[in-house]
Amino acid sequence: MSPAAKLPDTSAHIPVLLRPLIEAVAPVSGTWLDGTFGAGGYTRALLAAGADKVIAVDRDPLVFEMAKAWAGDYEGRIEMVQGTFSQLDEYASDLDGVVLDLGISSMQIDIPERGFSFMKDGPLDMRMSQSGESAADICNTADEAELADIIYLYGEERASRRIARAIVAARPVETTLQLAKIVESCLPRQKPGQSHPATRTFQALRIAVNDEYGQLAEGLMAAERALKPGGLLAVVTFHSVEDRMVKRFFQIRSGGQGNAMVVAGVICGCWICCARSAWRSSHRCPWR
Ligand SMILES: C[S@@+](CC[C@H](N)C(=O)[O-])C[C@H]1O[C@@H](n2cnc3c(N)ncnc32)[C@H](O)[C@@H]1O
Repeated sequence: MSPAAKLPDTSAHIPVLLRPLIEAVAPVSGTWLDGTFGAGGYTRALLAAGADKVIAVDRDPLVFEMAKAWAGDYEGRIEMVQGTFSQLDEYASDLDGVVLDLGISSMQIDIPERGFSFMKDGPLDMRMSQSGESAADICNTADEAELADIIYLYGEERASRRIARAIVAARPVETTLQLAKIVESCLPRQKPGQSHPATRTFQALRIAVNDEYGQLAEGLMAAERALKPGGLLAVVTFHSVEDRMVKRFFQIRSGGQGNAMVVAGVICGCWICCARSAWRSSHRCPWR
């Protein structure tokens, strides 16, 4: 069965941090862009809080299928765009606000065919947009050193070299549970209360497949270009690297304290340039 055939009803889904975000950006008015539309919780909340219109962007075509069930209630006030938020200034300009709620949705994790979950068997896919290079492509074609770098730099996994060696030895790696078992074989048994041993490796591959740090770096700059003077940019981060990137971007762009060049150097040197150029030498840092 295709992923579209199993779409969950997400109309009642309440996303994390919805209320604090809406309170932080109130009063809401004018045109907003929701760069991570997902199940539409933020879009609906922005419209309910006073936005005239929301441009709803997501790279995953499935989310727009799910929205068909309720989007008609907001006729003319939601414009849906399948695309990435790194290009959001191509979809709109003169915006009153932009919101980005980073990461993947529970719906994406819950559908085994999407290949994000190490708890359910499915093809090793992980592509939010359902196009381009999949996690299986990376596992089966990257050389061992590249794989180890991805797992170490994006997953902060100390056993990255051991895991990369095991992946290369087990090729072809085709399914999520196959990869989860390979990772488990390289790590000590999980203790009660600890996260699953494959958590960091799956996170690393997902970030690589979807170029999540590159998207964020470009998306912040695209938002800056698309906002009108005085417009608001609100970003909900999921883990520490994203959090650091967003805070440093705001710090640099607001001309705040701290040496902006040094701050930019830290972002470029450690978390974007180093991490990406280690396995993709054509990368040029967007922050400099
Ligand atoms: C955490 S969910 C957002 C949930 C949403 N705020 C809601 O209320 O349901 C993240 C969504 O952003 C999308 N996404 C992630 N990175 C993206 C990118 N670079 N461009 C566009 N969409 C992206 C994912 O496909 C997913 O649907």
